[in-house]
Amino acid sequence: MEFSIAVLPGDGIGPEVISEAVKVLKVIGTRFGHEFNLQYGLIGGSAIDETGSALPDESANLCSKSDGILYGAVGGPKWDGPDIPVRPEDGILTVRKTLDLFANIRPVKGYRSIADSSPIKPELLENVDMLILRELTGGLYFSKPKKRWETSRGRRGVDTLRYSEEEIERIVRVGFELASRRKKLLTSVDKANVLESSRLWREVATEISDDYPDVELEHIYVDNLSVQIIRNPSHYDVIVAENTFGDIISDEAAVLAGSLGMLPSASLSGYPPDIDTNNMSSNLYEPIHGSAPDIAGQGIANPIGTILSMAMMLRLSFGLEDEASNVEISVEQVLSEGYRTSDISPNNSNVVNTQKMGDLIAMRI
Ligand code: IPM
Ligand code: MG
Repeated sequence: MEFSIAVLPGDGIGPEVISEAVKVLKVIGTRFGHEFNLQYGLIGGSAIDETGSALPDESANLCSKSDGILYGAVGGPKWDGPDIPVRPEDGILTVRKTLDLFANIRPVKGYRSIADSSPIKPELLENVDMLILRELTGGLYFSKPKKRWETSRGRRGVDTLRYSEEEIERIVRVGFELASRRKKLLTSVDKANVLESSRLWREVATEISDDYPDVELEHIYVDNLSVQIIRNPSHYDVIVAENTFGDIISDEAAVLAGSLGMLPSASLSGYPPDIDTNNMSSNLYEPIHGSAPDIAGQGIANPIGTILSMAMMLRLSFGLEDEASNVEISVEQVLSEGYRTSDISPNNSNVVNTQKMGDLIAMRI
């Protein structure tokens, strides 16, 4: 089969980890007889430097006409500061919003072979296998008003947390769909004791649960979840949360997997494919980590989150289940053979660089 893929490496370690995912993808193409037609585009700070925009039209068009988007990371000190006119993050936020990629799936697994790289007790990491489902196109990130202004009594800033019934319903339905294919527990995260939007969220989630009698729905306040996800992580199956809550708890949950560098994600315009009105076109796949400017260019970044994101693209956008699990098994093999990038090697043994980690995984396909 033939697929066109938009590749947006971005800034910092983005290009380094994307190269390794592309390396593994090419081996998949050869071994399984697929043609992956890759087209590269600019995004983030590097796009601002060249074009003045964090998402040039060319990149936006590339994204909307591709079968899938593979994205690295954006940002860095060069484009940071209170007075910066265009922020690198605007690039990825615009892609998410314009392609309506409202469902962000972030799987978190405890890999037994690298349990020692997590500060959490190994016995707590047994059987950790959850999906964090983050609403990605609404809430605090996008609602208006969002602005800064000056008054005679000093500066003011406002962000707005607004959700419509429809926005909540569609993300919660994805949560039920995912949970019904797994351990059948959906945990809905909110702050309903304080926030009006959370009370609506809880109400809508409860109403929708009538359509999914085989899935258990539980509600939890976000502050309590941030404790429970560390105290009893194996309890969780699918966790659905508002945009900002999901951003924060997925970084926290990465501690369970040993490193932020391990976690992949998929941003979808619908799930499962047959209820997706946008026909699963142009979904986006990215590691959950950022551009890590402090280690950029040193060849020490962990490419596994990006490689696993590419595997999610094979499965969810292209329907290539065997190819996707082949990538995932290759990653597990390399880890169980003892190879590590430095972020998952607490005592600095068996450390390989970014490229070598990519080679090792590619060789096992
Ligand atoms: C993430 C990142 C982004 C977000 C940033 C880079 C805009 O933290 O994907 O989790 O906040 O969504
Ligand atoms: Mg984040």
